[in-house]
Amino acid sequence: MTHAVALILVTLVTICTASTNAQTIRSGELWPDSDGIHINAHGGGILFHEGTYYWFGEHKSADTSRALVGIRVYTSTDLTSWTNAGVALAVSDDPMSEIVSGCVIERPKVLYNQANDTFVMWFHLEIKGHGYNAARSGVAVSDSPTGPFTYLGSVRPNPARFPITISDDLRERAFKAPRAPETPTPGQTKPQISDRLFIRDIYGGHMARDMTLFLDDDGTAYHVFASEDNFTLHIAELDDTFTRHTGRYERVLIGGHREAPALFKREGRYHLITSGCTGWAPNAAEHHVADSIWGPWTSTGNPCTGDDADLTFRSQSTFVLPVQGKRDAFVFMGDRWTPETPIDGRYVWLPIAFDDAGTPTIEYLEEWNPGDHWADISPGGAP
Ligand code: GAL
Repeated sequence: MTHAVALILVTLVTICTASTNAQTIRSGELWPDSDGIHINAHGGGILFHEGTYYWFGEHKSADTSRALVGIRVYTSTDLTSWTNAGVALAVSDDPMSEIVSGCVIERPKVLYNQANDTFVMWFHLEIKGHGYNAARSGVAVSDSPTGPFTYLGSVRPNPARFPITISDDLRERAFKAPRAPETPTPGQTKPQISDRLFIRDIYGGHMARDMTLFLDDDGTAYHVFASEDNFTLHIAELDDTFTRHTGRYERVLIGGHREAPALFKREGRYHLITSGCTGWAPNAAEHHVADSIWGPWTSTGNPCTGDDADLTFRSQSTFVLPVQGKRDAFVFMGDRWTPETPIDGRYVWLPIAFDDAGTPTIEYLEEWNPGDHWADISPGGAP
Protein backbone atom coordinates (compact mmCIF):
# COMPACT_ATOMS: atom_id res chain seq x y z
CA MET A 1 0.00 0.00 0.00
CA THR A 2 1.39 3.36 -0.95
CA HIS A 3 1.61 6.13 1.59
CA ALA A 4 -1.04 8.07 -0.34
CA VAL A 5 -3.56 5.19 -0.15
CA ALA A 6 -2.80 4.62 3.53
CA LEU A 7 -3.35 8.30 4.25
CA ILE A 8 -6.70 8.26 2.46
CA LEU A 9 -7.76 5.14 4.43
CA VAL A 10 -6.76 6.65 7.77
CA THR A 11 -8.55 9.88 6.88
CA LEU A 12 -11.70 7.95 5.93
CA VAL A 13 -11.59 5.88 9.12
CA THR A 14 -11.11 9.05 11.17
CA ILE A 15 -14.03 10.80 9.49
CA CYS A 16 -16.29 7.73 9.97
CA THR A 17 -15.23 7.27 13.58
CA ALA A 18 -15.74 10.94 14.28
CA SER A 19 -19.24 10.88 12.85
CA THR A 20 -20.29 7.71 14.67
CA ASN A 21 -18.87 9.07 17.91
CA ALA A 22 -20.47 12.46 17.45
CA GLN A 23 -22.61 12.60 20.54
CA THR A 24 -25.70 14.74 20.45
CA ILE A 25 -28.98 15.05 22.29
CA ARG A 26 -31.91 14.06 20.12
CA SER A 27 -35.12 14.45 22.08
CA GLY A 28 -37.76 11.78 21.59
CA GLU A 29 -35.31 9.24 20.09
CA LEU A 30 -34.06 6.05 21.69
CA TRP A 31 -31.10 6.87 23.94
CA PRO A 32 -28.85 3.81 24.14
CA ASP A 33 -26.70 3.48 27.26
CA SER A 34 -23.24 1.90 27.40
CA ASP A 35 -24.89 -1.53 26.92
CA GLY A 36 -26.85 -0.34 23.88
CA ILE A 37 -30.13 -0.39 25.84
CA HIS A 38 -32.53 2.57 25.94
CA ILE A 39 -31.93 4.48 29.17
CA ASN A 40 -34.51 3.55 31.80
CA ALA A 41 -34.50 6.55 34.14
CA HIS A 42 -37.86 8.28 33.90
CA GLY A 43 -39.04 11.22 36.01
CA GLY A 44 -35.38 11.68 36.79
CA GLY A 45 -32.94 14.18 38.13
CA ILE A 46 -29.20 14.69 37.88
CA LEU A 47 -26.54 15.13 40.53
CA PHE A 48 -23.12 16.48 39.56
CA HIS A 49 -20.41 15.18 41.86
CA GLU A 50 -16.63 15.28 41.48
CA GLY A 51 -16.59 15.61 37.72
CA THR A 52 -19.39 13.15 36.94
CA TYR A 53 -23.09 13.55 36.26
CA TYR A 54 -25.30 10.93 37.94
CA TRP A 55 -28.74 10.54 36.36
CA PHE A 56 -31.27 8.91 38.68
CA GLY A 57 -34.70 7.86 37.42
CA GLU A 58 -37.59 5.45 37.64
CA HIS A 59 -37.03 2.04 36.10
CA LYS A 60 -40.17 1.33 34.10
CA SER A 61 -41.26 -2.03 32.72
CA ALA A 62 -42.86 -3.01 29.41
CA ASP A 63 -46.39 -3.19 30.74
CA THR A 64 -46.49 -1.29 34.02
CA SER A 65 -45.31 1.94 35.56
CA ARG A 66 -45.26 0.37 39.00
CA ALA A 67 -41.83 -0.19 40.52
CA LEU A 68 -40.65 -3.75 39.81
CA VAL A 69 -36.92 -2.96 39.91
CA GLY A 70 -36.31 0.38 41.63
CA ILE A 71 -34.36 3.50 40.87
CA ARG A 72 -31.65 3.33 38.24
CA VAL A 73 -28.52 5.40 37.95
CA TYR A 74 -26.41 6.25 34.89
CA THR A 75 -23.17 8.19 34.75
CA SER A 76 -21.71 10.61 32.21
CA THR A 77 -19.09 13.30 31.89
CA ASP A 78 -20.52 14.95 28.76
CA LEU A 79 -24.32 14.54 29.18
CA THR A 80 -24.57 12.64 25.90
CA SER A 81 -22.95 9.23 26.50
CA TRP A 82 -24.28 7.41 29.55
CA THR A 83 -22.91 4.40 31.38
CA ASN A 84 -25.34 2.06 33.07
CA ALA A 85 -24.34 2.09 36.75
CA GLY A 86 -27.09 -0.29 37.83
CA VAL A 87 -29.86 -0.02 40.40
CA ALA A 88 -29.26 2.66 43.03
CA LEU A 89 -32.26 1.74 45.19
CA ALA A 90 -33.79 -1.68 44.74
CA VAL A 91 -37.40 -2.53 45.52
CA SER A 92 -37.86 -5.09 48.30
CA ASP A 93 -39.13 -8.71 48.19
CA ASP A 94 -40.53 -8.30 51.69
CA PRO A 95 -44.33 -7.91 51.45
CA MET A 96 -44.22 -5.84 54.66
CA SER A 97 -41.84 -3.28 53.16
CA GLU A 98 -43.24 0.03 51.93
CA ILE A 99 -41.02 -0.31 48.88
CA VAL A 100 -42.09 -3.85 48.03
CA SER A 101 -42.07 -4.68 44.32
CA GLY A 102 -45.32 -3.37 42.82
CA CYS A 103 -45.44 -0.13 44.81
CA VAL A 104 -45.13 3.20 43.01
CA ILE A 105 -41.78 5.00 43.15
CA GLU A 106 -41.62 8.19 41.13
CA ARG A 107 -39.48 11.25 40.45
CA PRO A 108 -36.38 10.34 42.50
CA LYS A 109 -33.89 13.14 43.14
CA VAL A 110 -30.51 12.95 44.91
CA LEU A 111 -28.40 15.53 46.74
CA TYR A 112 -24.90 15.26 48.09
CA ASN A 113 -24.61 16.32 51.71
CA GLN A 114 -21.12 17.68 52.14
CA ALA A 115 -21.43 18.02 55.94
CA ASN A 116 -21.66 14.28 56.50
CA ASP A 117 -20.45 12.98 53.14
CA THR A 118 -23.65 11.13 52.27
CA PHE A 119 -25.93 10.98 49.27
CA VAL A 120 -29.60 11.52 50.08
CA MET A 121 -32.41 10.41 47.80
CA TRP A 122 -36.06 11.47 48.06
CA PHE A 123 -38.88 10.15 45.90
CA HIS A 124 -42.65 10.05 45.64
CA LEU A 125 -43.91 6.81 47.16
CA GLU A 126 -47.32 5.18 46.79
CA ILE A 127 -48.16 2.10 48.80
CA LYS A 128 -48.75 -1.05 46.74
CA GLY A 129 -52.40 -1.55 45.89
CA HIS A 130 -53.57 1.87 47.06
CA GLY A 131 -53.46 3.86 43.85
CA TYR A 132 -52.14 7.36 44.40
CA ASN A 133 -53.84 7.89 47.77
CA ALA A 134 -50.89 7.52 50.12
CA ALA A 135 -49.05 10.52 48.59
CA ARG A 136 -45.91 9.96 50.69
CA SER A 137 -42.26 10.92 50.37
CA GLY A 138 -39.64 8.19 50.68
CA VAL A 139 -36.05 8.85 51.71
CA ALA A 140 -32.91 6.74 51.31
CA VAL A 141 -29.18 7.30 51.91
CA SER A 142 -25.90 5.97 50.59
CA ASP A 143 -22.17 6.52 51.01
CA SER A 144 -21.72 6.25 47.26
CA PRO A 145 -23.56 8.13 44.50
CA THR A 146 -24.29 4.89 42.65
CA GLY A 147 -25.64 3.23 45.79
CA PRO A 148 -26.79 0.88 47.02
CA PHE A 149 -29.09 3.30 48.84
CA THR A 150 -30.58 2.22 52.16
CA TYR A 151 -34.27 2.98 52.56
CA LEU A 152 -34.97 4.95 55.75
CA GLY A 153 -38.76 5.22 55.53
CA SER A 154 -41.46 7.58 54.31
CA VAL A 155 -43.39 10.56 55.58
CA ARG A 156 -46.34 12.79 54.95
CA PRO A 157 -44.32 16.01 55.40
CA ASN A 158 -44.69 18.57 58.15
CA PRO A 159 -47.54 17.26 60.33
CA ALA A 160 -48.88 19.82 62.82
CA ARG A 161 -46.81 22.64 61.33
CA PHE A 162 -48.16 25.86 59.94
CA PRO A 163 -46.59 27.30 56.79
CA ILE A 164 -44.57 30.52 57.02
CA THR A 165 -47.51 32.47 55.64
CA ILE A 166 -51.02 31.72 56.87
CA SER A 167 -54.03 33.96 57.34
CA ASP A 168 -55.64 34.26 60.78
CA ASP A 169 -58.81 32.81 59.31
CA LEU A 170 -57.08 29.69 57.98
CA ARG A 171 -55.20 29.22 61.24
CA GLU A 172 -58.46 29.39 63.21
CA ARG A 173 -60.12 26.90 60.91
CA ALA A 174 -57.13 24.56 61.21
CA PHE A 175 -57.38 24.65 65.02
CA LYS A 176 -61.08 23.77 64.81
CA ALA A 177 -60.68 21.08 62.14
CA PRO A 178 -60.13 18.04 64.42
CA ARG A 179 -63.48 18.71 66.17
CA ALA A 180 -65.32 20.11 63.16
CA PRO A 181 -63.88 18.76 59.88
CA GLU A 182 -64.80 20.90 56.91
CA THR A 183 -66.83 19.34 54.12
CA PRO A 184 -66.67 20.24 50.41
CA THR A 185 -69.03 23.04 49.44
CA PRO A 186 -70.38 23.28 45.89
CA GLY A 187 -68.94 26.12 43.87
CA GLN A 188 -65.70 26.41 45.85
CA THR A 189 -62.80 27.96 43.92
CA LYS A 190 -59.55 26.03 43.53
CA PRO A 191 -57.80 28.03 46.29
CA GLN A 192 -60.78 27.38 48.59
CA ILE A 193 -60.70 23.65 47.81
CA SER A 194 -56.96 23.66 48.47
CA ASP A 195 -57.37 25.44 51.82
CA ARG A 196 -59.88 22.79 52.87
CA LEU A 197 -57.47 19.98 51.91
CA PHE A 198 -54.64 21.76 53.72
CA ILE A 199 -56.77 21.88 56.89
CA ARG A 200 -57.77 18.25 56.46
CA ASP A 201 -54.13 17.12 56.36
CA ILE A 202 -52.48 19.50 58.76
CA TYR A 203 -52.30 17.10 61.70
CA GLY A 204 -51.63 13.89 59.75
CA GLY A 205 -49.06 15.42 57.42
CA HIS A 206 -49.38 16.83 53.95
CA MET A 207 -49.81 14.96 50.71
CA ALA A 208 -46.62 14.82 48.65
CA ARG A 209 -46.68 13.59 45.06
CA ASP A 210 -44.58 14.98 42.15
CA MET A 211 -41.38 16.34 43.65
CA THR A 212 -37.92 17.71 43.26
CA LEU A 213 -35.00 18.65 45.51
CA PHE A 214 -33.02 21.86 45.43
CA LEU A 215 -29.72 22.67 47.14
CA ASP A 216 -29.17 26.39 47.67
CA ASP A 217 -25.77 28.13 47.62
CA ASP A 218 -25.80 28.43 51.42
CA GLY A 219 -26.04 24.63 51.78
CA THR A 220 -29.75 24.58 52.69
CA ALA A 221 -31.71 21.83 50.98
CA TYR A 222 -35.37 22.05 50.00
CA HIS A 223 -38.01 19.49 49.10
CA VAL A 224 -40.58 20.80 46.64
CA PHE A 225 -43.73 18.76 46.09
CA ALA A 226 -47.28 18.80 44.78
CA SER A 227 -49.53 18.73 47.84
CA GLU A 228 -53.20 19.23 48.74
CA ASP A 229 -54.32 16.83 45.99
CA ASN A 230 -51.99 18.62 43.55
CA PHE A 231 -53.81 21.93 44.03
CA THR A 232 -50.85 23.62 45.77
CA LEU A 233 -47.08 23.18 45.83
CA HIS A 234 -45.17 23.06 49.09
CA ILE A 235 -41.57 24.22 49.36
CA ALA A 236 -40.16 22.67 52.52
CA GLU A 237 -36.77 23.11 54.15
CA LEU A 238 -34.75 19.99 55.02
CA ASP A 239 -32.57 19.71 58.11
CA ASP A 240 -28.79 19.49 57.98
CA THR A 241 -28.89 15.73 57.33
CA PHE A 242 -31.24 16.36 54.36
CA THR A 243 -33.29 13.37 55.56
CA ARG A 244 -35.95 15.23 57.58
CA HIS A 245 -38.10 18.33 57.22
CA THR A 246 -37.38 21.17 59.62
CA GLY A 247 -41.03 22.25 59.79
CA ARG A 248 -40.34 25.46 57.85
CA TYR A 249 -42.32 25.47 54.66
CA GLU A 250 -44.44 27.62 52.40
CA ARG A 251 -47.52 26.94 50.31
CA VAL A 252 -46.98 28.36 46.83
CA LEU A 253 -49.19 28.79 43.75
CA ILE A 254 -52.16 28.10 46.03
CA GLY A 255 -54.94 26.50 43.99
CA GLY A 256 -52.72 26.73 40.90
CA HIS A 257 -53.05 22.99 40.25
CA ARG A 258 -49.46 22.53 39.11
CA GLU A 259 -47.14 19.54 39.37
CA ALA A 260 -43.82 18.19 38.00
CA PRO A 261 -41.83 21.00 39.71
CA ALA A 262 -38.28 21.79 38.55
CA LEU A 263 -36.50 24.49 40.57
CA PHE A 264 -33.24 26.22 39.73
CA LYS A 265 -31.37 29.39 40.60
CA ARG A 266 -29.82 31.88 38.21
CA GLU A 267 -28.16 35.16 39.06
CA GLY A 268 -29.61 35.09 42.57
CA ARG A 269 -33.21 34.52 41.48
CA TYR A 270 -35.24 31.35 41.89
CA HIS A 271 -37.00 29.82 38.90
CA LEU A 272 -39.70 27.19 38.96
CA ILE A 273 -41.03 25.30 35.94
CA THR A 274 -44.17 23.23 36.43
CA SER A 275 -46.74 21.33 34.39
CA GLY A 276 -50.50 21.23 34.61
CA CYS A 277 -52.20 18.14 36.05
CA THR A 278 -53.29 15.88 33.19
CA GLY A 279 -51.72 12.58 34.25
CA TRP A 280 -49.43 11.08 31.60
CA ALA A 281 -50.80 13.39 28.88
CA PRO A 282 -48.72 16.48 28.13
CA ASN A 283 -49.90 20.03 28.70
CA ALA A 284 -48.42 23.54 28.76
CA ALA A 285 -45.58 24.32 31.13
CA GLU A 286 -45.52 27.45 33.25
CA HIS A 287 -42.58 29.41 34.62
CA HIS A 288 -42.50 31.31 37.91
CA VAL A 289 -39.76 33.49 39.30
CA ALA A 290 -39.01 34.77 42.82
CA ASP A 291 -36.32 36.70 44.68
CA SER A 292 -36.71 34.47 47.74
CA ILE A 293 -37.39 30.76 47.66
CA TRP A 294 -40.36 31.45 49.94
CA GLY A 295 -41.86 33.73 47.30
CA PRO A 296 -43.82 35.64 46.26
CA TRP A 297 -43.63 33.73 42.99
CA THR A 298 -44.59 35.58 39.82
CA SER A 299 -45.69 33.78 36.67
CA THR A 300 -44.10 34.68 33.36
CA GLY A 301 -46.27 32.17 31.47
CA ASN A 302 -45.25 29.31 29.22
CA PRO A 303 -41.48 29.30 28.60
CA CYS A 304 -41.82 27.07 25.52
CA THR A 305 -42.08 28.59 22.04
CA GLY A 306 -42.76 27.16 18.57
CA ASP A 307 -44.61 24.04 17.45
CA ASP A 308 -46.08 21.98 20.29
CA ALA A 309 -45.14 24.69 22.80
CA ASP A 310 -48.58 24.30 24.39
CA LEU A 311 -47.72 20.63 25.03
CA THR A 312 -44.17 21.27 26.28
CA PHE A 313 -43.03 19.54 23.06
CA ARG A 314 -45.09 16.52 24.14
CA SER A 315 -43.28 16.21 27.45
CA GLN A 316 -43.58 17.02 31.14
CA SER A 317 -40.91 18.73 33.22
CA THR A 318 -38.83 16.72 35.65
CA PHE A 319 -35.62 18.70 36.30
CA VAL A 320 -33.52 21.66 35.25
CA LEU A 321 -29.82 20.89 35.14
CA PRO A 322 -27.12 23.55 35.53
CA VAL A 323 -24.33 22.50 33.13
CA GLN A 324 -20.88 22.61 34.74
CA GLY A 325 -18.11 24.67 33.20
CA LYS A 326 -20.43 26.55 30.87
CA ARG A 327 -21.68 30.09 31.09
CA ASP A 328 -25.35 30.50 31.98
CA ALA A 329 -26.14 26.96 30.86
CA PHE A 330 -29.30 25.16 31.97
CA VAL A 331 -30.92 22.09 30.45
CA PHE A 332 -34.68 21.59 30.62
CA MET A 333 -35.35 17.89 31.19
CA GLY A 334 -38.78 16.45 30.42
CA ASP A 335 -40.40 13.06 30.02
CA ARG A 336 -42.41 12.03 27.00
CA TRP A 337 -44.48 9.35 28.71
CA THR A 338 -45.74 6.25 26.91
CA PRO A 339 -48.21 4.79 29.45
CA GLU A 340 -49.10 1.78 27.24
CA THR A 341 -45.46 0.68 27.17
CA PRO A 342 -43.84 2.68 29.98
CA ILE A 343 -40.32 1.33 29.33
CA ASP A 344 -40.39 3.06 25.94
CA GLY A 345 -40.83 6.56 27.43
CA ARG A 346 -38.55 9.12 25.80
CA TYR A 347 -36.61 12.10 27.08
CA VAL A 348 -36.92 15.69 25.92
CA TRP A 349 -33.86 17.71 26.87
CA LEU A 350 -33.50 21.24 25.61
CA PRO A 351 -31.29 24.24 26.32
CA ILE A 352 -32.89 27.13 28.18
CA ALA A 353 -32.25 30.64 26.87
CA PHE A 354 -32.86 33.83 28.87
CA ASP A 355 -33.97 37.21 27.61
CA ASP A 356 -32.70 40.52 28.97
CA ALA A 357 -35.27 40.46 31.77
CA GLY A 358 -34.02 36.99 32.76
CA THR A 359 -37.17 35.23 31.56
CA PRO A 360 -36.47 31.75 30.19
CA THR A 361 -37.39 30.54 26.73
CA ILE A 362 -37.26 26.94 25.57
CA GLU A 363 -37.16 26.26 21.86
CA TYR A 364 -37.22 22.81 20.28
CA LEU A 365 -33.93 21.63 18.79
CA GLU A 366 -33.80 18.40 16.78
CA GLU A 367 -30.20 17.74 17.70
CA TRP A 368 -27.72 19.58 19.89
CA ASN A 369 -24.74 19.13 22.15
CA PRO A 370 -24.30 20.80 25.56
CA GLY A 371 -20.54 20.79 24.94
CA ASP A 372 -20.95 23.09 21.91
CA HIS A 373 -24.08 25.01 22.77
CA TRP A 374 -22.69 27.34 25.42
CA ALA A 375 -19.41 29.17 25.86
CA ASP A 376 -16.98 27.81 28.40
CA ILE A 377 -16.66 29.71 31.62
CA SER A 378 -13.59 31.88 31.23
CA PRO A 379 -10.87 31.51 33.84
CA GLY A 380 -12.05 33.29 36.98
CA GLY A 381 -15.56 33.68 35.56
CA ALA A 382 -18.56 32.98 37.71
CA PRO A 383 -20.39 29.70 37.03
C1 GAL B 1 -48.54 12.56 36.44
C2 GAL B 1 -47.29 12.71 37.24
C3 GAL B 1 -46.46 11.48 37.03
C4 GAL B 1 -47.30 10.29 37.43
C5 GAL B 1 -48.58 10.25 36.65
C6 GAL B 1 -49.49 9.11 37.06
O1 GAL B 1 -49.41 13.63 36.61
O2 GAL B 1 -46.59 13.85 36.86
O3 GAL B 1 -45.27 11.57 37.77
O4 GAL B 1 -47.58 10.36 38.80
O5 GAL B 1 -49.28 11.45 36.83
O6 GAL B 1 -50.71 9.18 36.38
